[in-house]
Amino acid sequence: MAKLERLDKVLANMGYGSRKDVKNHIKNGIVKVNGNIIKDRETKVNPYEDEITINGEVVNYREYIYLMMNKPQGLVSSTDDPLTRTVIDLLSDEYLIYEPFPVGRLDKDTEGLLLISNDGKLAHELLSPKKGVYKTYFAEVDGTVEDDHVGIFNKGLTLDDGYMTLPARLEILESGIVSKVNLTIQEGKYHQVKRMFESIGMKVLFLKRISMGPLKLDPSLEPGEYRELNEEEINMLKFR
Ligand code: URA
Repeated sequence: MAKLERLDKVLANMGYGSRKDVKNHIKNGIVKVNGNIIKDRETKVNPYEDEITINGEVVNYREYIYLMMNKPQGLVSSTDDPLTRTVIDLLSDEYLIYEPFPVGRLDKDTEGLLLISNDGKLAHELLSPKKGVYKTYFAEVDGTVEDDHVGIFNKGLTLDDGYMTLPARLEILESGIVSKVNLTIQEGKYHQVKRMFESIGMKVLFLKRISMGPLKLDPSLEPGEYRELNEEEINMLKFR
């Protein structure tokens, strides 16, 4: 059962102003709980079950938010950066009050699926190397990727620092001077996909993440766009 919380704390957490602003709203009689005007800010409420309204507007309380972004190139995947715009800068205030952060990183020049949330437990589950969550990337590579490479990636490759990668699944979509592939990896070393191709003498020209565990990038999201995960997607991630 959800914990009972003080009314003023719930409203302040939801971004309805500072504790002082909230105190005034309550004093002015614009806050109702289950239809009754409440003037005592210390009243205990169950934010998940009680209907709280301010000026008639229902306050939707929730602890966590889960957003899927199609990360554009040129932004960094962190919460703040002294020099560059971050993916968090794209979010509207309605989400910023939850203090979300990117779950994992994509390079500045990488596009694609980025989960943004404030759920630290889920982030840990998805990022922990022990969990080996699969991530699939679409890549355009300067070089001819051939069938022989499938086995090489599957065996694991040695990166520039001597690290031997875990087996990765390479699917060749187009083989030519520039090749198009999908690569699925189960770890997340620094610049991993780029370094895997470097180890066979090829440069990644374009990189886009298309899935993370069971979560797939919504093809209707243009780079820079985001949306909330639906319930099915949240459950898929939590109960893998
Ligand atoms: N591998 C890379 O090289 N870059 C990314 O952004 C993600 C995986």
